[in-house]
Amino acid sequence: MKLLRVIMLCLCYTSYSNYISKLGNNPQLICIVVLTINLNKAKLRINACNEGGRSYRQFSYALTYCRFLIKTFANVETGRIIADVKAAGNGTALDPLHQYVSHGREAVLQCIFQESKMKWNVVTNIQKYKVSSNPSTEHSRLHVLNSQPDDEVIYGCSGLVNQMYYIQLNLYVPPTRLYFFRSIANKLEGMEGTDLLIRCIAEGGKPPPDVSILNSSRPNKTQEISFIIPTISRDYHQKPIVCDAFSDALESPMRVTVQINLYLKPFTPKFNTNEVSTEETIPLRVSCISYGSRPTSSFNWNIGRNDVTSFSKSKTEIAENGTKTVVSTLTYSVNKSHNEQTIICRASNIVGSVSASKTLDVKCK
Ligand SMILES: *[C@@H]1O[C@H](CO)[C@@H](O)[C@H](O)[C@H]1NC(C)=O
Ligand SMILES: *[C@@H]1O[C@H](CO)[C@@H](O)[C@H](O)[C@H]1NC(C)=O
Ligand SMILES: *[C@@H]1O[C@H](CO)[C@@H](O)[C@H](O)[C@H]1NC(C)=O
Ligand SMILES: *[C@@H]1O[C@H](CO)[C@@H](O)[C@H](O)[C@H]1NC(C)=O
Ligand SMILES: *[C@@H]1O[C@H](CO)[C@@H](O)[C@H](O)[C@H]1NC(C)=O
Repeated sequence: MKLLRVIMLCLCYTSYSNYISKLGNNPQLICIVVLTINLNKAKLRINACNEGGRSYRQFSYALTYCRFLIKTFANVETGRIIADVKAAGNGTALDPLHQYVSHGREAVLQCIFQESKMKWNVVTNIQKYKVSSNPSTEHSRLHVLNSQPDDEVIYGCSGLVNQMYYIQLNLYVPPTRLYFFRSIANKLEGMEGTDLLIRCIAEGGKPPPDVSILNSSRPNKTQEISFIIPTISRDYHQKPIVCDAFSDALESPMRVTVQINLYLKPFTPKFNTNEVSTEETIPLRVSCISYGSRPTSSFNWNIGRNDVTSFSKSKTEIAENGTKTVVSTLTYSVNKSHNEQTIICRASNIVGSVSASKTLDVKCK
């Protein structure tokens, strides 16, 4: 269980005797409140008050204020919902401490004072509020029963001195949605060799959910997390990326998985024979095969400087991983002028193009 603890301490720089000796010299009392929030090892120190003392009366008030201790505990009693999550805010009217409760549950707000009676700024309503106190721990609790949206207001507790400590009650709200930016049907499209942005976003949620990507090993306080895979390699094709949102408003983390789908450059094509040769009277018939393109690559053929693509035909197969295997076959009548010319097959798609070449051997009779 998480423990949330807020302690306000005052240190008076001017002691009483010091004050008396300086009476009449218009001395200043400076009171510093140190607010420590110890939650998941987070620590916050705040200078929250600055009292100017001009009379004994004011001084004693300041002294009382210096004894003013406020503590808010989480899960003090088993089975009770108390402030059991994150704290934010420093307890001032402008920046109240935030406390969360589940809809319909009892919220227990706590203030601790020394030497003073606590008052809560709520109207008497026995169906809604109960106040309890424990003299040994000097705390006073406001129980907000059956918490409803209407109860999401700022509560104040005050001691003898006219100083208030403010707590904003919030109902837990789970995030409404967790998704990967630019993903469609749980697929995230990218292109081999370019940077791919991975961005996971949680919408809504009170308190704001922590979002993490890749194994939950990188929790983040923000509503979203993003990173870039630079010049992404084809190894990422069809790899899943998991994003989790953690929130005390959720019974178990929210999770979304996206599959990376990459546009892939075809692999360098291969001729179906080691030597490309034929006899003058027999048309040349040669094939090139290219694996691993996405989208499908198209073939171009050249013999010497001539584009002979129109004499070729391609056949496409889809591999299990969604990439395309393309076989292109060229059928072309040659004569002795073609002997020793270079024959090139080139596979290209939007990602890039790759080619292979051989020297043509035309046998004459
Ligand atoms: C505490 O509250 C005061 C008043 O709203 C604000 O000015 C100050 O910035 C707050 N301090 C912190 C650390 O949030
Ligand atoms: C994710 O977890 C697996 C095994 O649990 C580990 O091998 C891998 O390195 C982790 N990846 C990251 C990015 O933390
Ligand atoms: C959390 O998010 C911030 C801002 O996006 C980023 O700078 C930081 O590195 C993130 N922290 C972790 C642990 O991922
Ligand atoms: C996809 O399948 C093809 C054919 O089996 C293989 O050559 C290729 O390496 C696989 N993976 C990728 C990312 O292209
Ligand atoms: C050889 O073929 C090319 C083009 O196919 C043609 O232009 C040329 O005239 C032919 N040469 C001979 C000797 O038939």
